[in-house]
Amino acid sequence: MRIPDEVIMEIKYKNPIEEVISPYVNLKRAGRNLNGLCPFHNEKTPSFTVYTDTGSFYCFGCGAGGDAFGFIRRIENLDYIEAVKKLADKAGVNIPEGDYDDSYLKLKGRIYEINKETARFFHNYLFTDGGKWALDYLLDRGLDIKSIKHFGLGAAPTEWDSLLKHLKAKGFYLNEMEQANVITKNSRGGYYDRFRNRVMFPIIEPSGRVVGFSGRRHPDEDKGGKYINTSDTPVYKKSKTLFGFNFAKNHCSTRLLVVEGNMDVVSLHQAGFENTIGTLGTAFTTEQARMIARYTNEIVLSFDSDAAGQKAVARATEVLSGSGLNVRVLSVPDGKDPDEFIKKNGADRFKALLEGAVNEIEYKLFAAAEGIDTATADGKAKYLKLAAEALSSINDPIAVDLYAGRLSQQYSITKSVLVKEVTKMRQNKQRANHKKQIQAAIKPVFTNNDPNPLKRTHQLGVAAEEEIISVLMAHPDMFKILTDFSEDDMISPINKRIFSAVKDASLKGDGRFDISLCGDDFSPEEMGYIASLQNGKGPFANPKQSIEDAVQVLKNEKTNAPPGEAGKLADDEWARQMQKMIEGKKRSN
Ligand code: UTP
Ligand code: MN
Repeated sequence: MRIPDEVIMEIKYKNPIEEVISPYVNLKRAGRNLNGLCPFHNEKTPSFTVYTDTGSFYCFGCGAGGDAFGFIRRIENLDYIEAVKKLADKAGVNIPEGDYDDSYLKLKGRIYEINKETARFFHNYLFTDGGKWALDYLLDRGLDIKSIKHFGLGAAPTEWDSLLKHLKAKGFYLNEMEQANVITKNSRGGYYDRFRNRVMFPIIEPSGRVVGFSGRRHPDEDKGGKYINTSDTPVYKKSKTLFGFNFAKNHCSTRLLVVEGNMDVVSLHQAGFENTIGTLGTAFTTEQARMIARYTNEIVLSFDSDAAGQKAVARATEVLSGSGLNVRVLSVPDGKDPDEFIKKNGADRFKALLEGAVNEIEYKLFAAAEGIDTATADGKAKYLKLAAEALSSINDPIAVDLYAGRLSQQYSITKSVLVKEVTKMRQNKQRANHKKQIQAAIKPVFTNNDPNPLKRTHQLGVAAEEEIISVLMAHPDMFKILTDFSEDDMISPINKRIFSAVKDASLKGDGRFDISLCGDDFSPEEMGYIASLQNGKGPFANPKQSIEDAVQVLKNEKTNAPPGEAGKLADDEWARQMQKMIEGKKRSN
């Protein structure tokens, strides 16, 4: 069951894309289109484009793209149906009941209710005799009642089925509880509470709804994980979630502080650092970075000083700088976590640490000294080599000069010697990079969630498929010359699907493809790809020629290189074929 095309088109028609996007992005007119800073990644020059004539958007920086529904879906983190409903409501369009399958939507609603009820249950239990141990524990750790209530902290009873019984009495079904991940099936098919005898931290999304839980083991226990967290559910994706962000998002316009521990988050908020979030024990993801980048410009990472923590810093720095954020690192002295530090030294000392949090360069210089005794000549030489290495990866010549000056003073060596070493390493790096770039230009590198991974092995064929699809999107009448061609002649599964969708559209209405009629058939990432195909190429001066050339390329690809072999073409052979295609395109334009 799906919402009829007419209804979708009416909603789309009543929600012009620029009106849908402009509350989120400051759009400026640029010729026929509109431009702005992409809300899905951090950038300084606009690569986010809104195409009013096709009712779509595409970001050249991060590949996000789609239609008005897709935009709302991404920015508000909604399902397709939810996004359609939202825009329908806004425009006063009524979607007839039963016109769409909303069972998943209903399940999500039930899970949100279960989570709310569960959070309430754990929180109330904290103030009963059974939960007294947990309340005492939290108070003992320095939290006050106000913070405990603010974060809705709680306790899970020791029994196997307290929550299960409670939720049952409230009218929830076992399968719903299981999908909410608050109960688990045992090997005999029975169910039991997933969180027992634990201090409970509800995880709350920015909209204020409880999406999951993190449970800390009883302080007297040593069995079971120290923390267990909700696994992914229809409302909870661990790669997209951050602990405390629901509060911190309103306090982080200057900077956001990222820590590892849940306890750190709560105690930092209590100490007045309401711009703190926790990573819930997972490695930082680009999705989290993107989410953060919408609210802040600067991140201060304060992870544990053990090896695992430092590895996490390195990874997070990489992910975060990729999103354009300014990243600094705060090392808490004596290997303490921020929570312990504050308890021992007070909030003011922590604030001083925070103000002094080092930038990326300083952190690298500092980390290079790890395990080296710089008091000895040997150690000094070893350290300066590593320091030069660290400086050689910095792109700002003024900063490099500044730090080279400081290092040479500190270790009493001649600055020019150090600078020379940095320059040498830099040149080596550039040479290696240059080589990589050339290779990348010949064989583009794509990310894991590239909607068309076959580009990696079948550049030529995929480029030809894309050309065919782009032309047909703009000139559906060209299907008439494709009598002998079908999606089966394409290589990549996604392009087969897009080709079918464009063909279906050509048989209806005015025959023109509309991205909004793909509905729920494509994922948000795939919609980005479709938007790029629709808007990224053209206009086509000679559509017929473009199609014929591309079909020829696909045919050659099939006869010359069996599937999977295209990527093995020698570079010069590949370049030759590519050149041919480019020539062909020039001719047609
Ligand atoms: P820590 O072990 O540093 O916990 O793990 P903590 O918050 O300082 O705990 P306290 O102070 O002893 O109470 C940091 C974070 O990593 C996640 C949790 O989110 C924890 O807060 N974690 C840790 C897990 O998810 N599972 C684990 O087994 C351990
Ligand atoms: Mn701790």
